[in-house]
Order: sequence, then C-alpha cells, then structure tokens
Amino acid sequence: MTSIHLLIPAAGSGRRMGSDRNKVLLDLMGLPIIAWTLKAAAQSEAVVWMGLVGQAGDRAALEAIVNRLSLPQPVAFIEGGSTRQASVYNGLLGLPPGATRVLIHDGARCLATPDLFNRCAAALAKQSGLVAAIPVKDTIKLVDANLTVEATPDRQRLWAAQTPQGFDIGLLKQCHQQGLDQGWSVTDDAALFEQCGLPVQIVPGEETNLKVTTPMDLAIAEFILKQRLGQP
Ligand code: C5P
Repeated sequence: MTSIHLLIPAAGSGRRMGSDRNKVLLDLMGLPIIAWTLKAAAQSEAVVWMGLVGQAGDRAALEAIVNRLSLPQPVAFIEGGSTRQASVYNGLLGLPPGATRVLIHDGARCLATPDLFNRCAAALAKQSGLVAAIPVKDTIKLVDANLTVEATPDRQRLWAAQTPQGFDIGLLKQCHQQGLDQGWSVTDDAALFEQCGLPVQIVPGEETNLKVTTPMDLAIAEFILKQRLGQP
C-alpha cells in the first residue's frame, strides 16, 4: 500500500457551533472531537505521518490529546492560518522532506472510517488529485443575491465534496501558490486543483462522514457513534 502523509486542518473556531472554543476540542461521547478523527486516521495502515494544523492558542490542548492517544504514527503540530486555505498551505510547508502524496482531512469530520482513508490512499497511488464525495440527495438551486433562483443544476451530476482529499504534493503546492498569487479564495483543496486545470477524481465517500459544524451535527454524530459502538 502507498505510504501517505496526512494533514488534519483543525485551526478553526466554534463560531457556528455557538461555542467560544475551537469546536474540535468539544466533547463527543467522552472524547474531544479531534480525538475521534485522529483515532480513525491512525487505524489506516497507509498513513505513516500526521500533521495536525492548529492555532497557537490550542497547541497545548491538542498536544495533550495526541499524547493521551499514543498513536503508532508520529504526529507533528503545525500552526494554522486565518482561513482553512491558509492552514492547509502552512501544513503543506510543514510536510517532511521526501513526502510525495498527501491526504487532507478536516479535523471536524470525526466519523470518517479507517476504510475511507485506506480507499483514498489506494486511489492516490493511481491519481494525482482526488476527493471523497457522495451524490447529493436534495435538489440544489443556484440563487442570486436577491434570493431569486437562477438555475437548477441536473442532480445526477452533483456530488457533495467531503474529505479526505488527496494530492500529489508538488502539484498541490503549486496550485496553492498560484491561488495565493491570484487571490483565489476556496473552501477545499480540490477547488485549487480544478482552477489550475488539473483532474480531480471522485472516491465514493460515506454518508456518515459529516462535518461537525452546528450543535445539530454534534447530536447526529453522537447518534451515529452510539450505533457503531452498540450503545443504547
Ligand atoms: O469551518 P469549517 O468547518 O468549514 O472548517 C473545516 C476544517 O478546517 C475544520 O476542521 C477546521 O478546524 C479547519 N480550519 C482550519 N483553519 C481555519 C479555519 C478552519 O484549519 N482558519
């Protein structure tokens, strides 16, 4: 299996969660959200190194969580930026020399399974850009600033992007650099690859791989975890 370096952006806030703490530090069934993410990633045999991207103010808390988990892979702390895009860029600069392929996985997606990491890692041996995604269930409307519907894209062709996303490191660094030079603002790394005209392949994601963003997501995540752990 290909050896994969994994970056985990975890330098966000808890604003949409209604919390004054970074949401990845909030409790989910007795463990911080980020601990679930780290545990699942660490169980993937393909992952040989992890870079945890966090704000300086969260460093002590994040390192304490990592130490308590005693994972088989080394976990490096990398300081994040003011946007996810900036945090990932810092992460890319913090990768060890010699790394060739990277998976990037949001710290807030704490329910991704080791199998999803393995499938992305296997696909990354053959592709230079990929994104885990699932078909959308809703009909999606394209809307203007006055909330008038402009178009209804064909649902058959719409997929909801998740993470992990995986890339050739050299190419992704170039795309991030070009994004910086041109002032592109994106919410995932695949979008930078696309803007640079590079192909991005879909890897089937997981319906349960939600990004914990609001208190409702946290309640759903707890429900899913209880089912997995066989708890009432
Ligand atoms: O805010 P959102 O949930 O979309 O963030 C996705 C991921 O990016 C989260 O895991 C969050 O911690 C991370 N992030 C980051 N640096 C930022 C903002 C978000 O690493 N400045």
